[in-house]
Amino acid sequence: MAFVLAVTGSAVGLGNIWKFPYIAGQNGGGAFVLVYLACVVLIGMPVMMSEILIGRRGRRNPVATMELLGKEEGSSANWKWVGGMGVVAGILILSYYSVIAGWTLAYIVKSATGVFAGASAEAVGAEFSGFVGNWKAIGLTHTIFMALSVFVVARGVERGLEQAVRFMVPALLILMLLLLLYSINSGYFGQGVAFMFTPNFELLTWGSVLAALGQAFFTLSIGMGAVMAYGAYLPEETSITGASAAVVTADTGIAILAGLAIFPLVFANGLTPADGPGLVFNTLPLAFGQMSGGVFFSTIFFVLLSFAAWTSAIGLMEPAVAWIVEHFHKTRAQATVLIGGLIWVLGFGSVLSFNVLADTTFLAGTLFDNVDYLTSNIMLPLGGLLITVFAGWVMCRNSTSDELGNSGMLFKAWRMLARFIAPIGILIVLVNAVL
Ligand code: PHE
Repeated sequence: MAFVLAVTGSAVGLGNIWKFPYIAGQNGGGAFVLVYLACVVLIGMPVMMSEILIGRRGRRNPVATMELLGKEEGSSANWKWVGGMGVVAGILILSYYSVIAGWTLAYIVKSATGVFAGASAEAVGAEFSGFVGNWKAIGLTHTIFMALSVFVVARGVERGLEQAVRFMVPALLILMLLLLLYSINSGYFGQGVAFMFTPNFELLTWGSVLAALGQAFFTLSIGMGAVMAYGAYLPEETSITGASAAVVTADTGIAILAGLAIFPLVFANGLTPADGPGLVFNTLPLAFGQMSGGVFFSTIFFVLLSFAAWTSAIGLMEPAVAWIVEHFHKTRAQATVLIGGLIWVLGFGSVLSFNVLADTTFLAGTLFDNVDYLTSNIMLPLGGLLITVFAGWVMCRNSTSDELGNSGMLFKAWRMLARFIAPIGILIVLVNAVL
């Protein structure tokens, strides 16, 4: 139970509520959502199971685990580079994740002080652009969020976090349901649902298929060793399949709910789904602002979202911190301050992407867009590809069936997905979208 809570805490975060709606919006909705769901089931699920079983077998940080198992299975110590790529991906992701998490912190205060009470769409939008346009303001909230994350990881207060997740996820669900009710009453619910679920495959490019694949990896926290690092603490008797299924279900459910709550509001207020990273910050405060008790609900909502981001930040730092502790024999506190400091500095690249450097674009867009593209769309899928190849082809059948227990239908299904469907699927999408 503790493991499921920890992994759920890592999975449920900004990826579900902030990122999923805006990425779906930018990629045209319907067909994107279907591809995303297919990626979650056919690729996300086997990758997650592979990561957990590797983590439990190695019982070390992801770098050392991949090195150890690579040798144990008669392959090569070089598999450690898969762990190494995960460490780097976690650092890069948190560098911008923390900036957005900082926005949610600021929105707690804005909500509580009634900034959004009865505000118009224009006012809510102006509040957002004024805020992110000020690099000192979002630099400060990024700093506060990183300090909070370093504090928790350094002290290793995982137990407190389990308690937090136990309360946070149901509470978040209840608030999402409340928003859903509001959306259903907005008169635009049908339009929102149609946008999300009516597939128009003509609009689907390889680029948006890759975005869906990247989103599946990002939201499930897979492909970078976070789940592997948690798997190192998993007791022998726990079912990896059961735990993975529980996490995947909770995570996907919350993302879909977020979409269903947000898109009707987008249409009801004449906003555009392709609005980008500001989508959630421009829609939800508006809805809360019109509800009775909105100040209260809005404040609670952003508190919960900040919590969700916080429990995800821990997963993002864990591979790097565990590696520094074990490899360089540092204390947990030293390792966390070191990694946290590095991430804090890198984060200013994303802080400036929304103001001073907003017009400095290359490849995928701003610096923020590029770090996001590189990590979600390249590093995580590549990590997932290598992880499934390792679990499906390098590890012998007995090692994996030992961990997954039994040789029945479920094991056969996993092996089929891990050996063929997932790696080939990832490869096809990466090759077509990137080359
Ligand atoms: N899954 C988290 C989210 O959706 C982000 C994350 C990615 C956390 C990778 C840990 C590792 O917000």
